[in-house]
Amino acid sequence: TVLVVDFGAQYAQLIARRVRECHVYSEIVPSTMPAEEMLARRPKAIILSGGPASVYAEGAPIAPEGLFDLGVPTFGICYGHQVMAQALGGTVENSDVAEYGGTTVTVSSPGMLFAGLPHEQAVWMSHRDYVSRAPAGFTVTASTDVTPVAGMEDLERGFFGVQFHPEVMHTEQGMELLRRFLYEGAGCRPNWTMVNIADESIAAVREQVGHKRAICALSGGVDSAVAAALVQRAIGDQLTCVFVDHGLLRKGEPEQVEKDFVAVTGVNLHVVEAQDRFLAALDGVTDPEEKRKIIGREFIRVFEEAAREIVAGTSGATPQDGSPEADEPVEFLVQGTLYPDVVESGGGTGAANIKSHHNVGGLPDDLQFKLIEPLRSLFKDEVRALGEQLGLPSEIVWRQPFPGPGLGIRIIGAVTRDRLDILRDADAIAREELTNAGLDRDIWQFPVVLLADVRSVGVQGDGRTYGHPIVLRPVTSEDAMTADWARLPYEVLQRISTRITNEVREINRVTVDITSKPPGTIEWE
Ligand code: XMP
Repeated sequence: TVLVVDFGAQYAQLIARRVRECHVYSEIVPSTMPAEEMLARRPKAIILSGGPASVYAEGAPIAPEGLFDLGVPTFGICYGHQVMAQALGGTVENSDVAEYGGTTVTVSSPGMLFAGLPHEQAVWMSHRDYVSRAPAGFTVTASTDVTPVAGMEDLERGFFGVQFHPEVMHTEQGMELLRRFLYEGAGCRPNWTMVNIADESIAAVREQVGHKRAICALSGGVDSAVAAALVQRAIGDQLTCVFVDHGLLRKGEPEQVEKDFVAVTGVNLHVVEAQDRFLAALDGVTDPEEKRKIIGREFIRVFEEAAREIVAGTSGATPQDGSPEADEPVEFLVQGTLYPDVVESGGGTGAANIKSHHNVGGLPDDLQFKLIEPLRSLFKDEVRALGEQLGLPSEIVWRQPFPGPGLGIRIIGAVTRDRLDILRDADAIAREELTNAGLDRDIWQFPVVLLADVRSVGVQGDGRTYGHPIVLRPVTSEDAMTADWARLPYEVLQRISTRITNEVREINRVTVDITSKPPGTIEWE
């Protein structure tokens, strides 16, 4: 394990992903974690992330006491570089000149990190404070016009620091520097591969579940599908997948689950028709968080009922008579929770709770299942790779993410059957045109949002209309933590707009959302 110490901001996640791209397992830990606790995780290396603070700011996060005495190779990046310099007796100074964006570092003394690399390298910087004097024992390896110590290392103790961000794409040699630190500086081995991840996860689930039975929330999305496929590999018929048709799904989704997942994996499937129940529970509710909580709560309740039915043998999915697990209660619930969900819901790093994602924050207190979350430490791209490793079809593995609360949080206003039908039709057109344009893999996600409480005047045929606007929200992203609005070709937007206003009753206006994340989130609610 490589521990990425989070000093705030979102740099830590990107660093953790880059480490994993080097096939080395990494985890994010808060900078408030005591050094002994870090040591207890037996890290091969520690990386100190960037952060928004100045080391001189009041309450600025500092390195845990004793961190530099653990004997673990450590790499400080940006703020982490300054923290390292300061803790070991170097000097950090405030500067009037900030250095943001692309710049060039000059390698003065290559050391281990820069050996054999170009003398001048393009790097990405984002800082105001700077290290003016490296601590005793360190060699200064690189500098820029305004930053005398842009790189430093103490090979003897295994300490390395750079002022720039090796984890961002714009730093030319970033990945190479990271690899050198991990492999040469810390002796890590590249054994975090999909084959190993799959094998280890399957073994862990088998161990956790034993002879008990599990049910799985199948949503049709990548995450739940990969989680289910993995658990099925581990425990076979002890798993029953429950597919809740809550009426908040997109067009064709129930059929797709059947065709692309159940048919391929042969998993036990139990379908629950729960449209009326969800609509009743959502009746008149307009607050986004309340919608999420209601949907999450009903979801779990439906599962519990399904589980009881399955156990009571009133469902077709009960294991055959005489099989050892036939009368075991259903004790486990499989969820496709991902690492960013865990981090963003404030689980782990003390990050702010931005939205209660319904598969983490919105669970009811009286939950009756133990959770199996085999993807809890994985990023989205790793889940896709794992899905391919498990043999799932590309229609599932490369599906764009879809939120658990479904179309319920894409209707701004109260959710009704009519509004769902309208949104479903518009959404199907947008998806179809995106696919026709061959852009599915270029776009991270393409929410279509119905502004149900807004009306605007239009003219169609010879008559005045007074209908609803639809918002197209195509975004590009690497991990949903940040996103940019996608520059879809005008022709594609044009086709979507024309078709939606022609084919979907009630819609007389199509708009495009051109907000990045931050400040906007991807979904509107
Ligand atoms: P936001 O809107 O926060 O979304 O930028 C980030 C990503 O998470 C998805 N999302 C959800 N997924 N349950 C989920 O399973 C939820 O409650 C939920 N809310 C948002 C969203 O579609 C995007 O991919």
